[in-house]
Amino acid sequence: MEFKIGLIRGDGIGPEIAEEARKVLDAVCRKYGHTFNYSELLLGGASIDVHGIPLTDETIEEARTCDAVLMGSIGGDAATSPWYKLEPSKRPEAGLLKIRKELGLFANLRPAYLYNELKGACPIKDSLIPDGFDMIIVRELTGGLYFGDRKTYDDNGVMTAVDTLKYNENEIRRIARRAFEIAMKRRKKVTSVDKANVLDSSRLWRKITAEVAADFPEVTLENMLVDNCAMQLVRNPAQFDVILTENMFGDILSDEASMVTGSIGMLSSASLNETKFGLYEPSHGSAPDIAGMSLANPIATILSAAMMLRYSLDLDREADDIEEAVKKVLAEGYRTQDIMAEGMKLTNTVEMGNLIAAEI
Ligand code: IPM
Ligand code: MG
Repeated sequence: MEFKIGLIRGDGIGPEIAEEARKVLDAVCRKYGHTFNYSELLLGGASIDVHGIPLTDETIEEARTCDAVLMGSIGGDAATSPWYKLEPSKRPEAGLLKIRKELGLFANLRPAYLYNELKGACPIKDSLIPDGFDMIIVRELTGGLYFGDRKTYDDNGVMTAVDTLKYNENEIRRIARRAFEIAMKRRKKVTSVDKANVLDSSRLWRKITAEVAADFPEVTLENMLVDNCAMQLVRNPAQFDVILTENMFGDILSDEASMVTGSIGMLSSASLNETKFGLYEPSHGSAPDIAGMSLANPIATILSAAMMLRYSLDLDREADDIEEAVKKVLAEGYRTQDIMAEGMKLTNTVEMGNLIAAEI
């Protein structure tokens, strides 16, 4: 089959990890006789360097013509990079938020599970997770604090800043529905995470989520406060199947969940709209401190490419192949430095990509 894939290499380690994901996709194409035509898209710092802004309208239009978009990572070191001398709306992250909003990518799926092979890298005691864990965080991605009104102003001589956390019932309903649909294909449990003891937006979130739950009688709905959830993730991560939450809470909890799997370098993500289209990116950032050194773990991006095959292109067998290849390479003892352990074989970004591609 033939598909058009937008490829955002991005900044920092982005170009290195995107290249390895592409290498693995090339191997998939060779094996199954598919053709992927890549359209290179500029986002973040890479776009600022060329166009002065982190995302152009032309790039958005080009992305719309693709079947899916695969991305490395964007952003630089805020302390040293000239990109951060620009006003906030022109910085790299603003481009990422804009593409999410423009393409309506409201559903961010971040699966976090423990590979048997990486049990040693998991900071939680073995006795607490005898059977590992396997959860997926469903994060609302186009609302809440990230997109509410904000301003910084002088309030009678006192510098003041305000951000707004706003959700309407439709935004909550569509993401809740997505979470329940996903739960139906898994262990049929949704944990909706909020701060309903304080926030109005959370109280509405709870009400609408309960309404959606009524349409899914087989799924158990549990409500959990976000501070408790942060604690439960390191106390007993195996209790979670699907975690449903708003944008900001999901940002924070997904980093926490990834560390519990051993490394943030392992966590893939898919950002979907109402159609089959999606943007696929690792959950981690651009790690400018190790950029260009072939130290980055490309697995999160490679697993994001697998999610792309599954969710946007309906290539399930091919996605299985990538996930199996990652498992095999880990089982053979190969590790990048972030997941390195005694007795294992240390590899770099390129070698890890080569090994996984060779397993396809
Ligand atoms: C993520 C990132 C982004 C976010 C940043 C880069 C704006 O942390 O995808 O989790 O906060 O959504
Ligand atoms: Mg984040």
